[in-house]
Amino acid sequence: MSSSSAVRIEPLSRPLAGSVRVPGDKSISHRAVLFSAMAEGTSTLSGVLDSEDVRSSMKVVEALGAKVALDKQPDGSLAGEVRGWGSEGPRQPEGPLDCGNSGTTARLLMGVLAPWGIEAEITGDESLTRRPMRRITAPLMKMGVRFSPDGKETLPVTERGTSALRPITYDSPMASAQLKTAVLLAGVYADGTTTVNEPAPSRNHTELMLPEFGVKTTAGERTASVVGPARLEACDVHVPGDPSSAAFLACAAVLKPGSDVTIENVSLNAARIGFVRTLERMGADVSIARTGVAGKEPFGTISVRFTPRLRGCEVPADKIASIVDEIPVLALVAAHAQGITVFREVGELRVKETDRLRAVIDGLEALGVDAWEDGNDLHIEGQPGLVAPAGLVFDSGGDHRLAMTWALVGLVGREPVDVKDFECVAISYPGFLDDMERLAS
Ligand code: S3P
Repeated sequence: MSSSSAVRIEPLSRPLAGSVRVPGDKSISHRAVLFSAMAEGTSTLSGVLDSEDVRSSMKVVEALGAKVALDKQPDGSLAGEVRGWGSEGPRQPEGPLDCGNSGTTARLLMGVLAPWGIEAEITGDESLTRRPMRRITAPLMKMGVRFSPDGKETLPVTERGTSALRPITYDSPMASAQLKTAVLLAGVYADGTTTVNEPAPSRNHTELMLPEFGVKTTAGERTASVVGPARLEACDVHVPGDPSSAAFLACAAVLKPGSDVTIENVSLNAARIGFVRTLERMGADVSIARTGVAGKEPFGTISVRFTPRLRGCEVPADKIASIVDEIPVLALVAAHAQGITVFREVGELRVKETDRLRAVIDGLEALGVDAWEDGNDLHIEGQPGLVAPAGLVFDSGGDHRLAMTWALVGLVGREPVDVKDFECVAISYPGFLDDMERLAS
């Protein structure tokens, strides 16, 4: 953990009011960059998130020979062209492929490299090199991909793909869109049908985007298949706003008295807006309205108002994947609700950018709120009217979602808080504080 100096987050002087557009969706941006790099021809992308994680994906595909010409737009997004390596395949990289902090880059990359006979070392920062990778390498090895050291759980690992990939039907032990995507991407190049079955539905951006690139893909609630061998053909992708970033604005508006906010141009993909459903079940004043579709991805507005009386709720295990990145901030909302909130089966939080289960419990305890784990369930006993004590210092541990969650304590509360390593918000939402301050000005 880094011990860089903390940033002081002052309470917002006014309620959050008006409308805001959140930056592009991180998951869809990664896929747009990676799939364009794999494709034959030049794809045109717009609305791409400009953040450290997406830049990690851009950097690795460039090292593999894709031509990335994405430029900053007046609204802060990236737009332009990506020329893929298509049937020529990626070139042998000159050094290790550094995925930075980005689990999505590293894990999806393993599927991207699977069909090619090059040798690539995949690595990342201190946090990423602690995260589990066998969940991805195990199914890819069944398809014929080799990894060395053999069976290693953490990065760095060296991958050697094969043009003779075998199609598989894989019963995934966890609901993970990263795992599903890596296997499906490899499956595009295998001779036959590759299927991933999941214990609960995970985000389906890959299933929605692959057909845009001309790959026949079928998907049900907990299953997805591709038929290979096929190839990706360049296309146009527009990336809608990120619901995971919108969640911080929405939760701030629910908690800050007098707030009334409309978040525009945000993805309303059902697999991503579980936080809206959870806020509704807590009694929050929140609604969504669909305004359009980008490719096969629906988008629209999320409207949220301050809600003085929130109640605890129970989120069942099969809904956790739809809020997996929002649990820290939803836990903070639960800390203000009447009664106990239970998030069932959230063990995956232990292997995110940090151990988010531990961090959430410790952070809420610092607020004077009872929170505990029972097996893999997270329990929070809320306190209506909760007022955070003065002088709080939170350590984000370099985890962007924790940095924004703990910043919210200061923004919507009465006392400033200090957040260590706050600058890591640039991993997913560089303009987080600016957007908050603009809405409250
Ligand atoms: C992501 C999937 C989720 C999510 C991550 C992004 C993706 O991870 O937490 O932030 O883009 O596919 P898992 O696949 O590990 O659940």
